[in-house]
Amino acid sequence: MNMESRSPQQPSDKVYACSATSGEAVAEWMATARRAQREWVALPPLSRVAALHAAGEAVAAASTELVDLVVREVGKPLAEARGEVARGVAILHYYAQQVLDPDGSSYPASAGRGWLFARRRPHGVAGLITPWNFPVAIPLWKLCPALAYGNAAILKPAEQSPGVAMRLHELIAPQLPDGLFTVLPGEGETGAALIEHVDCVSFTGSAKVGSSVRLSAAARGIPAQCEMGGQNPSVVLTDVDVERAAQTIAEAAMGYAGQKCTATSRVIIVGDAREFTDAFSEAVRGLAVGDPAELGVVVGPLIEESARQAVLGAVEELKREGGRVVTGGRPIDRDGWYIEPTVFDGLPPQARLNQQEIFGPICGLLSAASAEQALQIANGVDYGLVGAVFTRDLDQALDVAERLEVGLARINAPTSGVDFYAPFGGWKSSSYGPREQGKAAREFYTFTQTVTVAPNGV
Ligand code: UN1
Repeated sequence: MNMESRSPQQPSDKVYACSATSGEAVAEWMATARRAQREWVALPPLSRVAALHAAGEAVAAASTELVDLVVREVGKPLAEARGEVARGVAILHYYAQQVLDPDGSSYPASAGRGWLFARRRPHGVAGLITPWNFPVAIPLWKLCPALAYGNAAILKPAEQSPGVAMRLHELIAPQLPDGLFTVLPGEGETGAALIEHVDCVSFTGSAKVGSSVRLSAAARGIPAQCEMGGQNPSVVLTDVDVERAAQTIAEAAMGYAGQKCTATSRVIIVGDAREFTDAFSEAVRGLAVGDPAELGVVVGPLIEESARQAVLGAVEELKREGGRVVTGGRPIDRDGWYIEPTVFDGLPPQARLNQQEIFGPICGLLSAASAEQALQIANGVDYGLVGAVFTRDLDQALDVAERLEVGLARINAPTSGVDFYAPFGGWKSSSYGPREQGKAAREFYTFTQTVTVAPNGV
């Protein structure tokens, strides 16, 4: 089956064409990956360090061109695309060094002499299934720990962004043993075939696909790690610097047209909401919307027509249910899948739009009489990825942040944006399995082997 990606800002621009990988081809690549993995673990650790650093240098040397491809293929605003590619390079160098980290712990041997220790071993071949919205950072924050801790990896990128994935492969694979890192473009069937063969699977994407990934993995008895959606709240207390909080939250809600699982989807305003609502809608209207290739643009197009239709459908639904469009709500008349950044209020916390992830430049405002009620609203969803609280009162900040049911709690900081060297993941329906990123990633990409060494004659 043929696949092609098209630029969201100029849909007549075909970016990349390829064919989807068949189930038989997945099985063949798997055999190659297995051979390469045995070769990789047998290398001296310093050779693995050098290979990953070389991959970092290759990506760094191609940064400008890779940034342009990210902008073109997935419509990411230039400044964010630059940040993402720089982050990708940093991730490669960071995990190069992790090869040399301690890989276990030692215990007293029961016989009094000899050794007892537990060490981390790779699973074998890791399957990586990734979305289009961070086409460099997410593949790399899965690939690098998979390799650093001794695995081979096969990546199935989103069907909307095969071009970036193939370019990454061209840059990175030559630094590694043949077949250690493979990219297999495809849609759902290719992903399903991959799960049938690999030794562990790491997935980022929608909650719906994530739940089928983890069920298939469980049926085979392999570890799964799934990062899924969010319905991320930002709680605004009464003492904030209104303009500053409004600006930070507006960017967290609308940056890259809200197409991040960490985007703010609900703003919960404690006390009288009028002043914040005005400041927020002004901040949202002030965000530059336009061609993502232009520096300064914050909001580009949605990834594809069906995504824009979903957001426009949500706007119709909120109007039908008695909600009010505070700003935005209309498609923008220009080439590409643009829609105005949209803010609504007047819908109850239980409304579908305040519960589900829409994945677009749309954000709901909710009022709460107290911080206590704001917390109830914030936690009253199935998701639990990121939550933020904005206040200058330290006690309140600590109390609210402590009680937010989320994997990532932010105080006076935007919900979006991730530090690749710290653990990343959500709570409740947002995540399944061990954390990604930083040293926490080792937990998923390895298993513990306990080794007893008894001296002869004991
Ligand atoms: C970020 O906010 O920098 O798919 C990263 C996503 C998240 C990554 C967010 N897994 O949007």
